[in-house]
Amino acid sequence: MDELIEKAARIIIESKLTIALTGAGISVESGIPDFRSKGGLWDRFDPEEYATIYAFKDSPEKVWQMLKEMEQIVDKARPNEAHAGLAELEGMGLLESVLTQNIDNLHQEAGSRNVIEYHGNSRTFTCIWCNKKYDYKDKKGEYPPKCECGKILKPDVIFFGEAIPPLAMARSSQLASTCQALLIIGTSAVVSPFNILPRQAKQAGSKIIEINLERTVLTENITDIFLQGKASEQVSQLVSAVKDLKEV
Ligand code: APR
Repeated sequence: MDELIEKAARIIIESKLTIALTGAGISVESGIPDFRSKGGLWDRFDPEEYATIYAFKDSPEKVWQMLKEMEQIVDKARPNEAHAGLAELEGMGLLESVLTQNIDNLHQEAGSRNVIEYHGNSRTFTCIWCNKKYDYKDKKGEYPPKCECGKILKPDVIFFGEAIPPLAMARSSQLASTCQALLIIGTSAVVSPFNILPRQAKQAGSKIIEINLERTVLTENITDIFLQGKASEQVSQLVSAVKDLKEV
């Protein structure tokens, strides 16, 4: 067993409260590109023009060009072994909650029950003009989807310039400040306020285990154990190590 994996597994077994923070990198092996890696979404769509609430209000048809591409990719995506591994840890009583920046619903489809969606979700739409709500299935194939009032609908994802859902924010902050171990997987940790959570956990004395293809802004002075590699491989090895060590 790899020494770092064993150390991380022991931390998870001994921790009385462990949480996982995830970003787009955990879903890349499910076929969903991330944002900031080479070839990521922001290489093709300038976030200033496509991902702010102001851009959506100014030209919703244009923003739906990006949203349509994302929706079609997410529709085809299935959970990978990293999502499954987190659900397994939750089932073993070793993971309290997943706090995700992702809107792809893959944690829930993998069986995670306690998922906090920090940037909202793409499965419901709201008319920001008359406030009527829809399930995305009711508007399948309609681009851009329209409200009965005639206006273009917005998915309930958080655009730059919008507030984080207050309940998600409060619950995440409470968990980050009381956890004993924090798994942070597949995020560049450059977007706030989500990227405050690992620092909050560190200050509260939590052990930070980071899984990423590359080093991030956290790796040097926040991360205690850096497991470099693909999320599906590292999470699978971690969960196997936890099961092996729990057996002895
Ligand atoms: N396994 C592990 N890590 C990976 C993998 C993989 N297979 N593929 C990519 N990564 C890593 C990248 O190295 C990068 O550090 O995942 C991270 C993805 O970073 P971003 O693309 O910045 O995505 P994320 O951190 O989730 O972005 C946060 O920014 O644009 C907004 O709202 C959007 O929620 C998003 C937020």
